[in-house]
Amino acid sequence: MEYYQQSQLKVLITREEINQAVVRLASEINHDYRGKQLLLIGVLKGAFVFMADLVRQLDLSMEIDFVRLSSYGAAQKSSGKVKVVQPLKTPIKGRHVLVIEDIVDTGITISFLLDYLRRKKPASLKLCALTDKPSRRQVPVSINYLGFTIPDKFIVGYGLDFDEKLRYLPDICFLER
Ligand code: IMP
Ligand code: MG
Repeated sequence: MEYYQQSQLKVLITREEINQAVVRLASEINHDYRGKQLLLIGVLKGAFVFMADLVRQLDLSMEIDFVRLSSYGAAQKSSGKVKVVQPLKTPIKGRHVLVIEDIVDTGITISFLLDYLRRKKPASLKLCALTDKPSRRQVPVSINYLGFTIPDKFIVGYGLDFDEKLRYLPDICFLER
């Protein structure tokens, strides 16, 4: 708990609020994909906690895979260049694909990924994001399932990192700059 004592770290979304959002999103997804074979694709590393909670609330037949994209590194802003670091091995042609992301900020990362996946001709392609920071958007992104719209703050915890740290916090916190 030492990080909570740091004065620059404040809770933005509590674990209870996160849990309620996960339950709500899962019920929407359960409803929309009923009777379908779903392929969930998590974006590493940030989505790992959210995805782990979400799949355990889903009542669907599904497969799970991950992609890893190049990230910000130590900087708190996007370089604007995205690369697929760990490509997808599962064939997605003709499949119902749902991408799970931690945050849509400028939108550069996720729109790159959605274009990459779309070229592989899935039967359907949708996006589920835990958080959305619309004030920073540079590329339009449509989010089909959204947990929270957040203000322009740099958030950490529940999978999200600052320079690879603080991913393990159970609440979503923000760093006061
Ligand atoms: P975008 O390309 O600007 O939309 O950035 C997307 C990626 O940047 C996310 O998947 C996160 O990994 C990272 N990111 C953006 N904003 C934050 C934040 O507030 N906290 C932690 N990571 C962030
Ligand atoms: Mg991410």
